[in-house]
Amino acid sequence: MREAPAELRERLERQNQLHVLYGWEKLSGVQRAGLVRQLTEVPWEKVLGLAVSGAKPAPSLAWQELEPAPLTPAAATADEQAAGKAALRQGVIAALVVAGGQGTRLGTDQPKGAFPIGPLSRASLFQIHAEKIAALSRQYGRPLPWLIMTSPATDAATREFFERHSYFGLARDQVRFFLQGTMPVVCARTRRLLLEAPGQLLLSPNGHGGTLSALAEHGLLDELESRGIEHIFYFQVDNPLVRVCDPGFVGRHVLSRAEVSSKVVLKDQPQEKVGIFARHQGRCVLIEYSDLPAELAQEREANGRLRYAAGNPAIHIFRRDFLQRVLSLGELPLHVAHKVAAHFDPDTGQWVTPQTPNAFKFEQFIFDILPHARQWLLMETPRADEFAPLKNAEGPDSPPTVQQAMVALHRRWLLQAGVPVQDWPVEISPLFALSAEEVMQRIPPGFRLTGPTYLREDTK
Ligand code: UD1
Repeated sequence: MREAPAELRERLERQNQLHVLYGWEKLSGVQRAGLVRQLTEVPWEKVLGLAVSGAKPAPSLAWQELEPAPLTPAAATADEQAAGKAALRQGVIAALVVAGGQGTRLGTDQPKGAFPIGPLSRASLFQIHAEKIAALSRQYGRPLPWLIMTSPATDAATREFFERHSYFGLARDQVRFFLQGTMPVVCARTRRLLLEAPGQLLLSPNGHGGTLSALAEHGLLDELESRGIEHIFYFQVDNPLVRVCDPGFVGRHVLSRAEVSSKVVLKDQPQEKVGIFARHQGRCVLIEYSDLPAELAQEREANGRLRYAAGNPAIHIFRRDFLQRVLSLGELPLHVAHKVAAHFDPDTGQWVTPQTPNAFKFEQFIFDILPHARQWLLMETPRADEFAPLKNAEGPDSPPTVQQAMVALHRRWLLQAGVPVQDWPVEISPLFALSAEEVMQRIPPGFRLTGPTYLREDTK
């Protein structure tokens, strides 16, 4: 290919994007074909349209019709517990973790899941989740399928990490990696497409909403259907406290015939960076913290509690057929985020690493599927039991705060089992116990702590 195809050139010129052909004459045939393919496959004109309008598309909500969402209680009934355990025994549920984020705020160039978060064990987030999957598989007598969504930024390193750790004892065919899609990145100042290198657009992951199209593109929804899987338990890699496939939650979801069920943690500070669930025209909506008008975020009930307090720990169960129905409705909306993006600058021929946000990135959010659910439920969960996300290198949601939350929870489990904990730090591997009840069943009579203690599978 001597020249870029004339029609493509014209489209680029019309959009002021001829710079993407920088260095064309020096590119190899393969590189030229690669660039043309990128420009054919990637929706660059669509994102430029969004970038030119400059701002994120506001959620199309009539704010005066927003109401707090009804919550169901944290404690599951015996019937719910039994229904959840039955679903696990029957193998009608799979777990799915989103692990495609770049972990920029944590300041690591490894996948976030590889971060050694165990307060005593230094177990990685992936290991902790894998041990939960293994414990559930053992308890319910069948391998719980685990889908792991990666992005081009995390895929190879994630697979390699699992290989290196022998899949943490899981069967290889129990774990399925799948790659999410990407979107072009646009310079916030010039509204030009950013480049990764001459002949290559800079791309970034298309958000966790990309789960939906990625599941479909990799044929996974059909595959799950043919394996008899009816529900997908969705969680984020950054939360080591998540109760994967919590039987009470699964049971409530199944018995209520919800298309989507979501856990909720109560928000006590208006400025806390969690999305909030609300009801809008009878449907469930999730409003991202940055989109919630400040006066609504601060509104309080007569008893002093925040009116919009239903915070999102990003723990959902989706019915598989619901995901298939949503897919048939078209694409999820794109949200625009103003972020830092290192890139190749065709004006100077240099690689640039900005220190402040310079670019628009475009992401789909999984929770934009919630309003499509006709039947939905929200289940409260105590924050200390289930939510301690690892987001930042320091300050809130950083390694020390996450580790403190893990130790505090595990100390409480031991106390409930009658073990005096004194001041010792403790950590409990999911292979030892997944809950306070399991600690009670497993802990040897008269067990005492004599120092920092990591209870593992083989602890006697
Ligand atoms: C997210 C939620 C917020 C919620 C909070 C709970 C959004 C926009 N907001 O906030 O409502 O209260 O988590 O912790 O998500 N990921 C991918 N691919 C991507 C982007 C993200 O797999 O393209 C994964 C990340 O690996 C991570 C998760 O999605 O596991 C969340 O991403 P993150 O950027 O940390 O979300 P937050 O803005 O912190």
